[in-house]
Amino acid sequence: MKLLITGGAGFIGSAVIRYLIQHTSHHVINLDKLTYAGNLNSLIEVAQDPRYLFEQVDICDQAELERVFSEHQPDAVMHLAAESHVDRSIDGPAAFIQTNIVGTSKLLEVARTYWQALNAERKAAFRFHHISTDEVYGDLEGPEGLFSEQTPYAPSSPYSASKASSDHLVRAWHRTYGLPVVLTNCSNNYGPYHFPEKLIPLIILNALESKPLPVYGKGEQIRDWLFVEDHARALYAVLSAGKIGETYNIGGHNEKQNIEVVHTICDLLQEVVPPRFCTKSWLASNGRCTLRIPSP
Ligand SMILES: NC(=O)c1ccc[n+]([C@@H]2O[C@H](COP(=O)([O-])OP(=O)(O)OC[C@H]3O[C@@H](n4cnc5c(N)ncnc54)[C@H](O)[C@@H]3O)[C@@H](O)[C@H]2O)c1
Repeated sequence: MKLLITGGAGFIGSAVIRYLIQHTSHHVINLDKLTYAGNLNSLIEVAQDPRYLFEQVDICDQAELERVFSEHQPDAVMHLAAESHVDRSIDGPAAFIQTNIVGTSKLLEVARTYWQALNAERKAAFRFHHISTDEVYGDLEGPEGLFSEQTPYAPSSPYSASKASSDHLVRAWHRTYGLPVVLTNCSNNYGPYHFPEKLIPLIILNALESKPLPVYGKGEQIRDWLFVEDHARALYAVLSAGKIGETYNIGGHNEKQNIEVVHTICDLLQEVVPPRFCTKSWLASNGRCTLRIPSP
């Protein structure tokens, strides 16, 4: 198959592309605008493969999307391009509305027109896989309160509201036009090439530089953590065997309070950094935790 991956230079998209090139025989077209979050270095291992191709395109640019579909004739789309950082969505929601909602609607329209013109066999096999977040369901209450695919939507940030909106658009394009879609909503990912503004890399880098560790409130928010390469395999399983129109939640069954994650990272750093860095003291004031690792 030829798979069109949007957002393939991002954290999860690049893991998906590395997986597809290294573990399948499919061809991959990576369509990415290369915003601040796009990093082509994450694809160095596969960029020279003849089955990999890059197109620098904005999903809001309908004419360019039409060109890419017409030139490359994909058999499926995996849609990961998005503005994805909650804090940025609070500072500036417009980009989230533009890419996550307007961009997704443009991609759906171009995909629909393309799909409708395919021959019967290719039309039946075509898939539009929309990758979304479990943040559309709101906050996890605790280990007993896991989300299911039936959990009502309760997004709380501009980011999660824009992703919820895109989920509804994808379902509408299935129900209204018959576009063969599958949706996945996953929990928080971690792993290689994670952008340093996200919790785990931020805590590691700040701790190594003796900077304050930013934790909201008392760090009691619960997140379920999923290794990005496991997520990539799960996405491929859903693309290959998922039922059309269905939504699949993907989680790690690994719920932790943010503060537990911070403590774990600090404990691990104690083990892996040289002994002279290992004097640790915790300061808790104004809800912020500070780990001080003395400079050499
Ligand atoms: N990271 C997580 O923990 C997580 C959890 C659940 C769901 N998700 C979802 O998975 C998807 C990928 O997340 P991520 O963490 O890899 O995000 P990311 O921010 O690391 O990467 C997003 C990619 O999309 C590209 N992009 C942004 N706007 C674009 C546009 N207008 N046109 C084309 N490309 C554009 C960026 O250049 C970047 O390469 C997102 O849809 C996100 O909502 C992420």
